Amino acid sequence: MDTILILDFGSQTTQLIARRIRELSIYSRIVPGDGRLADMDLSEVKGIILSGSPHSVHDADAPIPDPSVYESGLPVLGICYGLQRLVHDHGGQVEQQQRREYGRARQQITGGHPLFEGMEDGFVSWMSHGDSIERLPQDAELVSESEHGLPGCIAFRERNFVGIQFHPEVTHTEAGTLVLENFAVRIAGARRQWTMDAYAEQMSAELVARVGSSPVLLLISGGVDSTVTAAMLLAALPPEQVHLMYVDTGLMRYRETEEVRRGLEALGAKHLYIVDAEEAFLSALAGISDPEEKRRAIGDTFVRVQEAEIRAHIPGDYVLAQGTLYTDYVESGRGVGEKARVIKSHHNVRSPLIEAKRDAGEVVEPLIHLYKDEVRELGARLGVRDDIIRRHPFPGPGLAVRILGEVTRERCALLRQVDNTYITELKERGLYDEIWQAFAVLLPIRSVGVAGDERGYGSVIALRAVGSRDGMTADVYPFPTDHLLEISSIITNRHPEVGRVVYDVSSKPPATIEWE
Ligand code: XMP
Repeated sequence: MDTILILDFGSQTTQLIARRIRELSIYSRIVPGDGRLADMDLSEVKGIILSGSPHSVHDADAPIPDPSVYESGLPVLGICYGLQRLVHDHGGQVEQQQRREYGRARQQITGGHPLFEGMEDGFVSWMSHGDSIERLPQDAELVSESEHGLPGCIAFRERNFVGIQFHPEVTHTEAGTLVLENFAVRIAGARRQWTMDAYAEQMSAELVARVGSSPVLLLISGGVDSTVTAAMLLAALPPEQVHLMYVDTGLMRYRETEEVRRGLEALGAKHLYIVDAEEAFLSALAGISDPEEKRRAIGDTFVRVQEAEIRAHIPGDYVLAQGTLYTDYVESGRGVGEKARVIKSHHNVRSPLIEAKRDAGEVVEPLIHLYKDEVRELGARLGVRDDIIRRHPFPGPGLAVRILGEVTRERCALLRQVDNTYITELKERGLYDEIWQAFAVLLPIRSVGVAGDERGYGSVIALRAVGSRDGMTADVYPFPTDHLLEISSIITNRHPEVGRVVYDVSSKPPATIEWE
């Protein structure tokens, strides 16, 4: 499949470049900026993009592209630091400016170049740089200049290299996507072959080749990633070969286990192991209020239950499937990938059995090339139900981290019911899809209230609703007040144990999304 290779020098927007290219239905792949080209398969690469960077080309530890990038004969587009690399590496001069050029700046187009085909003179571009071009390489000429008189775009005469000082990948640049499209399609000649149908087909062939006739085991959480992974396995392999295991911890959302079962059966699952482990989890959690201890008890129980069940169902050798996404995998100096990894490894339960599979390389990851929105699209094509695809994230330890204080069967039942009331109301009011994650939390206090002439002490529920891109940071969802007041009153009417409802107005940071 025609590919645009992105050399990542650590810019925060490298992931955005990759996504924009993919939105053009062209496959893009991010590799480390100083990676050796000889170690990569370049047979389908049509063009190379050099990303931005927090570094200056003059830094002692500045990342330097492999010289064969310039000798490969492939068209190259340098963005920001990438442009400065092109200049610095070809005899031009890059210097620090007195004043940073930051924010919007209009570009005056001074020369014709296919990169700017269809762009209007004076288009608004987004700048973020401290260094600038002082002298062009001999072989290069100016294509545009910013309104502050600094080079905005330069092109080489003899070689197919072009560089821009602004960031076409951010939405602040007018028609920035057209610049990327001009590079990928007009200059590099990449064909638009990246569709989820093509991906499913290619991944199916890969899975068949990797797995052979071994059984494949996938641990299901009920979330989007594991469900779409299951759909991909079931589409690619004979269903008898695919073993799906889901542990019902008793800490799940309302009717979640039935929903998971229905969803997977609809996808044609033959070996589906739904493990009812509520008793094991509740007894491990009995008497524990400390959040860290709770997580430890849950983690240990998970490993114990999971490993016993795996041994019981699959006695021989097997391949393990995981729902790892591209953002979890991409190595990036400061980008999303690195942070996502830290969060995942922090949250994920470490099981010796699974670690051993990883070490032995007996793992397949059918979503490894995909971003979250692509996973949703693939899921839809593979027949995963829409409500599963749009479902808010749910943490592994489940309701246990939303029940502050001791976790008991009764408190689980109350929170599950209240959370369901809240989520159902959000859906009916058309708010659910506007919110990245919403849930109810049961607080460890009781609060005084009046019902008729009686004073009584009821439970306190906190409602949470946040907007986010990836869970790393989050904003409070600006709840329309009338909806919030109505939902509060519906909760206290329907669940008489609840005496008070509060709304959490903390963003992340400094708060986290979950309460524990
Ligand atoms: P926090 O609370 O860290 O949550 O701001 C960020 C995102 O991660 C989810 N989360 C977890 N997911 N195991 C998980 O699989 C966990 O232990 C865990 N803790 C938090 C949280 O729901 C949010 O989407």
